[in-house]
Amino acid sequence: MHKRPDTVAAVDPQALQQEALAAVERASTLAELDGARVHYLGRSSELKLALRQVRDRESGMALNAVREAIERAVAEREAELERAELDAKLSSERADVTLPAGLLGPVHLRRRGSLHPSTQVRRDVEDIFLGLGYEIVDDREVETTRYNFDALGFPPWHPARSPRASLFLDDETVLRTETSPAQIHKMESTRPPIYMLSIGRVYRRDTIDATHFPIFHQFEGLAIDRGITMADLKGTLLYVMRQLYGPDREVRFRTHYFPFTEPSMEPDVSCFNCGGAGCRICKHSGWIEMGGSGMVDPYLYEFVGWDPDEYTGFAFGIGIERTAQLRHGIDGIRPFWENDLRFLRQF
Ligand code: DAH
Repeated sequence: MHKRPDTVAAVDPQALQQEALAAVERASTLAELDGARVHYLGRSSELKLALRQVRDRESGMALNAVREAIERAVAEREAELERAELDAKLSSERADVTLPAGLLGPVHLRRRGSLHPSTQVRRDVEDIFLGLGYEIVDDREVETTRYNFDALGFPPWHPARSPRASLFLDDETVLRTETSPAQIHKMESTRPPIYMLSIGRVYRRDTIDATHFPIFHQFEGLAIDRGITMADLKGTLLYVMRQLYGPDREVRFRTHYFPFTEPSMEPDVSCFNCGGAGCRICKHSGWIEMGGSGMVDPYLYEFVGWDPDEYTGFAFGIGIERTAQLRHGIDGIRPFWENDLRFLRQF
């Protein structure tokens, strides 16, 4: 009979190694791998028991080689499994950086808002007039017919006094049809010199179409002092239009009629688009209508109890939406009031 080495228990190093390496390979988690390691390399493993009993060098070397092979396999498998677990974690917890930030959780990044184009023009106009030393005043939107019409020299038969043209609350109360009543309130509250700008909403009983809306904004200027002439009016409007539309603009006057100015003029600004050559924006005239203006009618001084010979002054009224339309090339007034974000976000 083959003599069994007396030191070695019934351990076949080759078979043990094969079995252990297979178990290590099968381990699919770090916990399973640890189980295999304890089973094949632990203190009470077959291998360790056999090693403890080794008496001859040869079987000792054989068993140590097996131990080393198993230890190497465990270390390699451990590295593999750690990498796999990390990969799984990374892909399950991955942040998709292409998602909108607001959807990512606690951080809510919102799109920055922008000012309404009417507000932008209003602020620009305010800045320009503050720079000229004007005082900016707010005024009432609900007016009496006395301030909206009588004080401004509207005759009793004037069509604007009709409930078909204006929005009346009762016989003597009307939503102001223009910012001009602010002139009277200012004159009643102080004495010249007056350099005032009033901006706000005005109301007319217009049917909505491309160029009409029952609410819009105007800016109203009033300058009253000693020795004011039409040249001051023209110079002021020229300066303001150059600020709004560029340094090359020119201003011209066409005679007109308003009940509260004498003489009355409609100012035009040379077209900022074609420079005066004629284009779609200026309807091929080279000039763009701005609003109304004139020298303060002496009737107004009498209305507030002043000597009409003591002062002279000028006034003007210009549409805010119209100014914004021209600046941005917007067709029509309706987009200013529809609150459509696709329109508003462009400014
Ligand atoms: N209030 C006039 C309008 O709405 C515009 C206007 C004309 C204002 C002449 C003025 C002015 O201050 O002097 O049509």
